[in-house]
Amino acid sequence: MGISKEIQFIIILLMLPTTFFVTSFPADFPLAKPNCTDKCGNISIPYPFGTTQDCNYQHPYFWVTCNQTSNPPKLFVWNSTIEISNISLDGQLKLLQYISQDCYFQNGTRNTYNAPFIRLPLYMTVNNTANRFTILGCDTYGFITGRRQNRNYETGCTAMCDALDDLEQGSCTGVGCCQTSIPKDVWEVNLTMRSYNNNSDVWAFNKCNYAFLVEESAFKFSPENLTNLDAVEKLPMVVDWAIGNGTCEDASANSSSYACKGLHSECYKPTNGYGYRCRCTVGYQGNPYLDEGCTQDYMMTIADINECIDSTLNNCTENEYCANTVGGFHCKCKKGYKKEGPGQGCVHGQSLAYRLAAGLALGVIVMLLVICLIYLELKRRSSNEDKKKNFLQNGGTLLQEKLKQIERNTARLIYSLTELRKATNNFHESMIIGQGGFGTVYKGIIENKIVAIKQSKEVSSNQVDQFVNEIVVLSQINHKNVVKLLGCCLEGQVPLLVYEFISNGTLYEHLHCKQPKTSNDDFLNWDRRLNIALETAGVLSYLHTDAFTTIIHRDVKSSNILLDNNFTAKVSDFGASKLVHLDQPHLTISVQGTFGYLDPEYMETGQLTEKSDVYSFGAVLVELLTGMRVISRNRPEEEKNFVMFFLSKLRGKRLFDVLDDGIVREENKEQLIQVANLAQVCLNRKGKDRPTMKQVAMELGGLKRDGKHPWAPENEHNYKSQEMEYLLDDGSNSKDDYGNSTSAGYDTSRGHLILPMNDAR
Ligand SMILES: *[C@@H]1O[C@H](CO)[C@@H](O)[C@H](O)[C@H]1NC(C)=O
Ligand SMILES: *[C@@H]1O[C@H](CO)[C@@H](O)[C@H](O)[C@H]1NC(C)=O
Ligand SMILES: *[C@@H]1O[C@H](CO)[C@@H](O)[C@H](O)[C@H]1NC(C)=O
Ligand SMILES: *[C@@H]1O[C@H](CO)[C@@H](O)[C@H](O)[C@H]1NC(C)=O
Ligand SMILES: *[C@@H]1O[C@H](CO)[C@@H](O)[C@H](O)[C@H]1NC(C)=O
Ligand SMILES: *[C@@H]1O[C@H](CO)[C@@H](O)[C@H](O)[C@H]1NC(C)=O
Ligand SMILES: *[C@@H]1O[C@H](CO)[C@@H](O)[C@H](O)[C@H]1NC(C)=O
Ligand SMILES: *[C@@H]1O[C@H](CO)[C@@H](O)[C@H](O)[C@H]1NC(C)=O
Ligand SMILES: *[C@@H]1O[C@H](CO)[C@@H](O)[C@H](O)[C@H]1NC(C)=O
Ligand SMILES: *[C@@H]1O[C@H](CO)[C@@H](O)[C@H](O)[C@H]1NC(C)=O
Ligand SMILES: *[C@@H]1O[C@H](CO)[C@@H](O)[C@H](O)[C@H]1NC(C)=O
Ligand SMILES: *[C@@H]1O[C@H](CO)[C@@H](O)[C@H](O)[C@H]1NC(C)=O
Repeated sequence: MGISKEIQFIIILLMLPTTFFVTSFPADFPLAKPNCTDKCGNISIPYPFGTTQDCNYQHPYFWVTCNQTSNPPKLFVWNSTIEISNISLDGQLKLLQYISQDCYFQNGTRNTYNAPFIRLPLYMTVNNTANRFTILGCDTYGFITGRRQNRNYETGCTAMCDALDDLEQGSCTGVGCCQTSIPKDVWEVNLTMRSYNNNSDVWAFNKCNYAFLVEESAFKFSPENLTNLDAVEKLPMVVDWAIGNGTCEDASANSSSYACKGLHSECYKPTNGYGYRCRCTVGYQGNPYLDEGCTQDYMMTIADINECIDSTLNNCTENEYCANTVGGFHCKCKKGYKKEGPGQGCVHGQSLAYRLAAGLALGVIVMLLVICLIYLELKRRSSNEDKKKNFLQNGGTLLQEKLKQIERNTARLIYSLTELRKATNNFHESMIIGQGGFGTVYKGIIENKIVAIKQSKEVSSNQVDQFVNEIVVLSQINHKNVVKLLGCCLEGQVPLLVYEFISNGTLYEHLHCKQPKTSNDDFLNWDRRLNIALETAGVLSYLHTDAFTTIIHRDVKSSNILLDNNFTAKVSDFGASKLVHLDQPHLTISVQGTFGYLDPEYMETGQLTEKSDVYSFGAVLVELLTGMRVISRNRPEEEKNFVMFFLSKLRGKRLFDVLDDGIVREENKEQLIQVANLAQVCLNRKGKDRPTMKQVAMELGGLKRDGKHPWAPENEHNYKSQEMEYLLDDGSNSKDDYGNSTSAGYDTSRGHLILPMNDAR
């Protein structure tokens, strides 16, 4: 049941790209060149448009002027009177156009206003699908004339009616309102209109006739418009813009003037007008006209990581080819190879007959594949323009469906901003329970339940990465010692994550910020510490080996281990975690972590493996044993890095000098020694000499069980698992010797753990 909830969450995540970016991250990328104005009021000015010569492409084509003194500021094509209300990087532009009027008075006078003749710059054409030539009146007809390409065009419309009753809301088919479409490639527009009878028969209810070119969706006819249109000065019209007047091939030949910049920008031909346009390739977003303007589209990447592109993400062998699927990949045997059996690699096909059959089968499959691909490609081409919109629509409704389904299962996943505002008293300072590089954690109350709400600091791409990472990782984890993610909120300026609230603070606070033994209830005695170590090791072991893909936490430290009222450990903060494929454990990524806990080998090589978490866990063990901070500036030089100091004490057989006085008792000395030894192997400089988290967890589990019984050396074999025996292989010394060593002057050569790394998995 838990699993299915997680899967639903992932499905929602896959749907998110649409809503998520539309609502939370409008234009997280630069639109204009550096130091260039990218706004006029609230109209954005993306490059190639610009307000000065240095800021636009091929002056004066994309020159616009902004009149800041009018309210709101107005944007114009060049320094003309053609007003722009919106510029889109998809190649559309909204212009505001005057309405032509033709009014008749009873005394015989006629009052006409002709909208200015529109002559668009060469790079613009009137969008033929979005606009309509519209005539309003009950005794009128009108023309629209102009030029398309290098010839003239003309079309017209008639609007008549006898009474107001005849007019129909939303209907523009000639009764009081007439609409007609215009041809492609139009760049000059001239409107004229006339009346058949000087409106004499309809004067009672229709004095003025109107003509305009308008974006169809921006004008819905209503009978009142015959009288109330005087109040409206301008109506929007959609214009398509493109670069130059040549084809993609011509343009890309001259690289200095080629407008599509950077690796992820591609050229395409608009369906209307001249020239070419640029767009970001699939999986990228941004301004394709700027240098390196297209950046990774995070949500697209999440929606489908193509594991086949990056060999560290798939485990296909050289005899296999990799086939990407949404959310995964398949390894398939190459031609002439076949699977020996389930779970085994591909080997050369044996017989000729087999190869022939395989070849034939492959041929058929390839043919089907090709047909499929052609079909898909054709479909893609036909629907490419509308893809984004459809994705949004489908995604949106699917998301809604999923949400309904989940609401029925009473799980909360999406919180509204209002709800979280209310829960945190409008993110009041007094509700802050934690702050760090990642952002701020607030305490809040939702439906009488206390929750923790994490707000990232800002929506930089790095933060979004971590945010998305955390959701992805946590949605794949189902473990009682991991802080539960209850949901998220996508409405605000920055993303918000909602967690279960863990009441008792962090392990760090308990070890370092409290007076020892102030109250017995609150003190972390050895049993509690061992338990915390065991639970944390259990989580890490689960992340490394049992979760459905290997997860490396990357920031294991005492301040990321939360404690509840029963001192149960809850591991938190998966913002830096990495999902790693099992058979590709060596991932080279930028070094990240907390100094003192950070694996020195990883720091040197940048090679991330599970063993980095083992090192950090070793440092936490040292903290648990000694009650000392791993790094502190207030200590003598050699103790500043306490992990190193601890190891030197251990080697010098002075372990009991550094142990936390509060926890040492006669009956647990053996356990302390063994945990200290475990810490020592975990802190091994070489990752391959460290145990796996599974081994560590088993060792701690064994120690805990042993502790419950009167400790007796001869019982030891019974309590220890098979794995622990070789874990605790003591070379020449017998188990009994090891067990009997109780003195503080402890012999490291006997207690040393030797780990069989080759059998580790
Ligand atoms: C932007 O302006 C600042 C200060 O006016 C200047 O130092 C910087 O060089 C400019 N950057 C570019 C790319 O022109
Ligand atoms: C732009 O500003 C105008 C007036 O300031 C406002 O009416 C309009 O809603 C704004 N548009 C957007 C998309 O914010
Ligand atoms: C401009 O158009 C885009 C879609 O084409 C829309 O998302 C945006 O809100 C519009 N901006 C303004 C200021 O109207
Ligand atoms: C800008 O707008 C104001 C107010 O609408 C107008 O008075 C002024 O002449 C305009 N400036 C320019 C340069 O067009
Ligand atoms: C527009 O600018 C050009 C060049 O800057 C100038 O020659 C022209 O007179 C201007 N037109 C108007 C209407 O201001
Ligand atoms: C006719 O009537 C209109 C408004 O009723 C008025 O503006 C106009 O001056 C009149 N013309 C004549 C010639 O009387
Ligand atoms: C617009 O059309 C009218 C009538 O057809 C004509 O008289 C006028 O000269 C045209 N205007 C332009 C600028 O071509
Ligand atoms: C319309 O009015 C004009 C004068 O304004 C007149 O010459 C013409 O004959 C009238 N037409 C009709 C059909 O009434
Ligand atoms: C047309 O009339 C309706 C109803 O009065 C009004 O809501 C709408 O704004 C009018 N259209 C225009 C373009 O003025
Ligand atoms: C394209 O534009 C250039 C310069 O604007 C012009 O010289 C050329 O004749 C145009 N070509 C076509 C086919 O319109
Ligand atoms: C016309 O504009 C719409 C958006 O308003 C756009 O989807 C369509 O592709 C444009 N048509 C052409 C021919 O460019
Ligand atoms: C590759 O990894 C998958 C799990 O992601 C596993 O099921 C499969 O057996 C592995 N294949 C090989 C050849 O190791």
